[in-house]
Amino acid sequence: MELFVVTSNQHKIDEFKELLEPLGYKIKSLLDLKENIEIIEDGKTFEENAIIKAKTICERFNITCIADDSGLEIDALNKEPGVLSARYLGHDTSYEYKNNVILERMKDKKDRTCRFVCVIALVSKNEIKTFRGEVEGKVAYKIKGSNGFGYDPIFFYEPFNDTLANVSSSMKNSISHRGNAIRKMVEYFENNK
Ligand code: IMP
Repeated sequence: MELFVVTSNQHKIDEFKELLEPLGYKIKSLLDLKENIEIIEDGKTFEENAIIKAKTICERFNITCIADDSGLEIDALNKEPGVLSARYLGHDTSYEYKNNVILERMKDKKDRTCRFVCVIALVSKNEIKTFRGEVEGKVAYKIKGSNGFGYDPIFFYEPFNDTLANVSSSMKNSISHRGNAIRKMVEYFENNK
């Protein structure tokens, strides 16, 4: 089965491929399209934004699409950066900068609880469904690791005693928010063949 993933983020595409290709799914993405399609993500929740992305491409090309909307919620910062994770401190700002600003904002905070959230929307002619995955962690005290992307270098996952940027992609995928959402979606596919 071919699945069109509405993203041009190569890191996300790699994670989708690593988890879905061994199960026989073939992954296509916005990077396979010749044209550049603008999608306005003006939803207030991960669910709304994931549906907006998947619906835009589904309606345009009449194909079944999946889209993920994801982000980091930090409890001591009122769940920021949340749905604005990609645009936090400016879309084109480096993650080294964003991560350093977060560490500075967290300097005196005792509660360092945070979570990655990923909502995948599956949109076809006949249905709209969402699958939510989360992973709970702690904001690290310093940046560590160069695997993964985005906020991985400051996401400390206690069972690994390490940040998600300092473990292998298969270790990250085995517990990650995106991995958990994908596993829920695959279970749904299996039960609805
Ligand atoms: P969007 O889903 O494309 O709107 O962007 C989500 C943003 O959340 C990414 O650009 C990252 O900043 C952050 N994010 C989502 N998933 C991850 C992850 O697995 N690791 C690190 N950062 C992530």
